[in-house]
Amino acid sequence: MSDLFRAPKGTFDLLPPDSELWLYVREVMAAPLRRAGYGYVETPIFEETALFERGVGESTDVVSKEMYSFVTRGDDHVTLRPEGTAGVVRAAVQHRLYAGQLPAKLWYSGSFFRYERPQAGRYRHFSQVGAEAIGVDDPALDAEVVALGAQAYADLGLTQVRLLLNSLGDRECRPVYRERLQEFLRGLDLDAETRRRVEVNPLRVLDDKRAEVQKQVADAPVVGDSLCDDCRAHYDAVRTHLTDLGVVWEEAPRLVRGLDYYTRTTFEFQHDGLGAQSAVGGGGRYDGLSEDIGGPAMPGVGWALGVDRTILALRAEEVAPPAPPRCDVYAVPLGAEAKRRLLQLVDALRREGVSADLAFGDRGLKGAMKGADRSGARLAVVLGERDLEAGEAQLKDLGSGEQVAVPLEEIVTVIKEKLS
Ligand code: HAM
Repeated sequence: MSDLFRAPKGTFDLLPPDSELWLYVREVMAAPLRRAGYGYVETPIFEETALFERGVGESTDVVSKEMYSFVTRGDDHVTLRPEGTAGVVRAAVQHRLYAGQLPAKLWYSGSFFRYERPQAGRYRHFSQVGAEAIGVDDPALDAEVVALGAQAYADLGLTQVRLLLNSLGDRECRPVYRERLQEFLRGLDLDAETRRRVEVNPLRVLDDKRAEVQKQVADAPVVGDSLCDDCRAHYDAVRTHLTDLGVVWEEAPRLVRGLDYYTRTTFEFQHDGLGAQSAVGGGGRYDGLSEDIGGPAMPGVGWALGVDRTILALRAEEVAPPAPPRCDVYAVPLGAEAKRRLLQLVDALRREGVSADLAFGDRGLKGAMKGADRSGARLAVVLGERDLEAGEAQLKDLGSGEQVAVPLEEIVTVIKEKLS
């Protein structure tokens, strides 16, 4: 057994019935977006490596440590997407969405890849549903985006998701804060690697999870104290709109997020039942991203919700997932001629909207009836040689055990009546 292939480390297979839950969560997350006018976008799973280096930021962990990058046979440097925003903004620039109706509202769902140390809730291949609203700088849009994320969690029945909110300022006021923070951090007792980070990306030091670092940065200046007037007004307006929408949030003055493109509004959805990987979703405004990747000035705001971690949250809160769709009718043919007739019957039932299956593989009556029980079907149709001669089939109610003979030409109608 040991030399069997297995799913690579940090990845997992989705199999029925659990896989239903992934489909369900993606659907529930997308539903509020579709109602709000977001259109579906699909971009390639790999992009030019430089897109992420310039978009997400070379000094971030995501780009410097976690990317699946490779050189193709044609000498192209490409990377499996570690996140969705850079690709969507790249597509918006490429297809000049800024020249059309704004904001361009887009949503996506798919696979993302980060070479992280796997643990519960942290995988190398994971699934996100994301939303991006591009081309408009309006705090009401930030509030809409945040509220749509909160709505998705509420629709899933989660009650323990907390929304953390912060503003990171813009390219005017953040450098001022950065310097203040650097000055403070240089005075601390930090290891060499962290001291280097203070010079390259000081905001990330605030996000260091180690207790000895957390203790020292407890009194660090917060970005909120350095916001310029425009950023302060924007943040105030976002909060007013969120209050109007009944969205509950917590101020998180130290929330910095792990991607460099953020400006102004940033937020994270956290769940306390998940241990270390508590962020079930996150996002923010990224007004300079388009220019960073060579596009025109084009503000934007969005989020991505982690499907896998949201499912862990559903399990932690013991929210019962909806029952997977089940088979209503299970057909049991006894002999080749009966199989021909029942394959046609199953096809006819499916066309009528009835879910139906057949005992494939000549199992004999006993084995096939076991299959009928396992399928969870309410009705079994058994067709043997004698039934064929009589032009009827045996219709068995698998709940009560009651069995009746039904003429073959009436069977679709009778089944539909029994199921209604
Ligand atoms: P992010 O915070 O890096 O943001 O990821 C969003 C969510 O994806 C996380 O909250 C988490 O639930 C999930 N996630 C991330 N990494 C992993 C992993 N290794 N294993 C399992 N789940 C994971 C972004 O990706 C931004 N693009 C969000 C955004 C959109 N900002 C603006 N627009």
